[in-house]
Amino acid sequence: MRLCVEHLDWRVHGHRLLDDISLTVDAGETFGLVGPNGSGKTTLLRVLAGLRRPKTGRVLADGRPMQGMRRHEIARLMAFVEQQADTLDRLEVHQAVALGRTPFLTPLRPWSARDEAIVARALADVGLTPLANRLWHTLSGGERQRVHIARALAQQPRALLLDEPTNHLDIRHQLSILRLVRRLPITVVIALHDLDQAMDCDRIGVMDGGRLVAIGPPREVLTPDRLLRTFGVHAEVLEIPGDSRPFLRFRHAR
Ligand SMILES: Nc1ncnc2c1ncn2[C@@H]1O[C@H](COP(=O)(O)OP(=O)(O)OP(=O)(O)O)[C@@H](O)[C@H]1O
Ligand SMILES: [Mg+2]
Repeated sequence: MRLCVEHLDWRVHGHRLLDDISLTVDAGETFGLVGPNGSGKTTLLRVLAGLRRPKTGRVLADGRPMQGMRRHEIARLMAFVEQQADTLDRLEVHQAVALGRTPFLTPLRPWSARDEAIVARALADVGLTPLANRLWHTLSGGERQRVHIARALAQQPRALLLDEPTNHLDIRHQLSILRLVRRLPITVVIALHDLDQAMDCDRIGVMDGGRLVAIGPPREVLTPDRLLRTFGVHAEVLEIPGDSRPFLRFRHAR
């Protein structure tokens, strides 16, 4: 699904949280959002997810304005893994993941073996099959985060929005979630703080003070000059023989 953002503005009490954002994410593309704390990544993702209705500008999903869509309809198209996800206290893990199927259930199309299979697959994809019957509140932070990702996968969305999905995960689960996300044939917009992980995206958008200050392939965007200007750090771009992408090394800018 192609996501198109046109001249988006978002203001709260005179502060411009989003400042004239225009962006197109192509069908199947993995688009990384990076930027310092408070630069507007979460705000932009929430608008893309239809949780905030912009007063100025619009968001189009495959050419259709999202403003006119009902929440239910949006949920059949896209899934959102939030930075601060809600609590699912009294649910078992498989029930929490099954919530991802809700937008597709109707009296004429009740819960079926197919839904069961989709949930089982989503649990397996995030490595939670052994914990399927555990109560959500007994899980660790990283396990909880993987439940939220599994719920989004169970939605079988055409676009997946992820807000720092790896921040609680151990390194092995970080890599496996990122690999999983990259292999999904759907449109992905993912906010990341780890700029080395962002290097693996098809394109990156850099946010700074509510504006998208750079968009393009990671190598073209994450330059030492950009990293100094936006993040205030010195960076070196290290090419490692045999590796297809460079690595970044940072130093505090005095
Ligand atoms: N309802 C609100 N009222 C006032 N300010 C807000 C509101 N929501 C967000 N902000 C401010 O908007 C700015 C952007 O917030 P946002 O959460 O989008 O940043 P972010 O890029 O996701 O940051 P982080 O990397 O810390 O997650 C922040 O300065 C935040 O304090
Ligand atoms: Mg955020």
